[in-house]
Amino acid sequence: MVSPKIAPSMLSSDFANLAAEAKRMVDLGANWLHMDIMDGHFVPNLTIGAPVIESLRKHTDAYLDCHLMVTNPMDYVEQMGKAGASGFTFHIEVAQENWQELVRKIKSAGMRPGVALNPGTPVEQVYPLVEGATPVEMVLVMTVEPGFGGQKFMPNMMDKVQTLRQKYPTLDIEVDGGLGPSTIDAAAAAGANCIVAGSSVFGAPKPGDVISLLRESVEKASSPTT
Ligand code: DX5
Ligand code: ZN
Repeated sequence: MVSPKIAPSMLSSDFANLAAEAKRMVDLGANWLHMDIMDGHFVPNLTIGAPVIESLRKHTDAYLDCHLMVTNPMDYVEQMGKAGASGFTFHIEVAQENWQELVRKIKSAGMRPGVALNPGTPVEQVYPLVEGATPVEMVLVMTVEPGFGGQKFMPNMMDKVQTLRQKYPTLDIEVDGGLGPSTIDAAAAAGANCIVAGSSVFGAPKPGDVISLLRESVEKASSPTT
């Protein structure tokens, strides 16, 4: 059985108060903190890097779910590991040639390897990574084009989630982009258990209620029907 992991995306937080925002999310029931690392090249936006992860790590024990939207993920493995990242999710679009070495390095740097795929990338591309000798431990299905928070959820990505869930019953499957109260049921029904949510959590009057609602939806969808 997979368990729900609700991961507020800190991209929507107040970066000037990151430690306090992280604590607020954990206190409200977040399981993970989703950290969007963008290099201004793989995506047209520039965010944070290892120095910020290192600073945040001094203030929290939370699982830092790092999503690397960068062209050269290999260049960041060592520094992210030292900084205290928990998960290191790279994009398959930029790791066709070296994913085996990348996954090995991520693990030996003490992080949990994950692979992400863009909306236009066929799901078959990640099968070898899940089935390899050193497998990834999570697949992140992008439900928006990566780069920015606050975009509209793409429901047609749920076919990928469903296919992965049927093939891999115990795999962590994460969805990222446009998740909130109106879209969570579709993602949970398809089989996603790790839920990234930025604007729907941080923009809510009561973020804790949204976190609970997301979790309940995943729990309901994954509990055996009688
Ligand atoms: C988009 C990022 C997401 C983003 C999600 O490139 O990967 O993590 O912060 O934000 P929302 O939930 O607002 O779509
Ligand atoms: Zn992300």
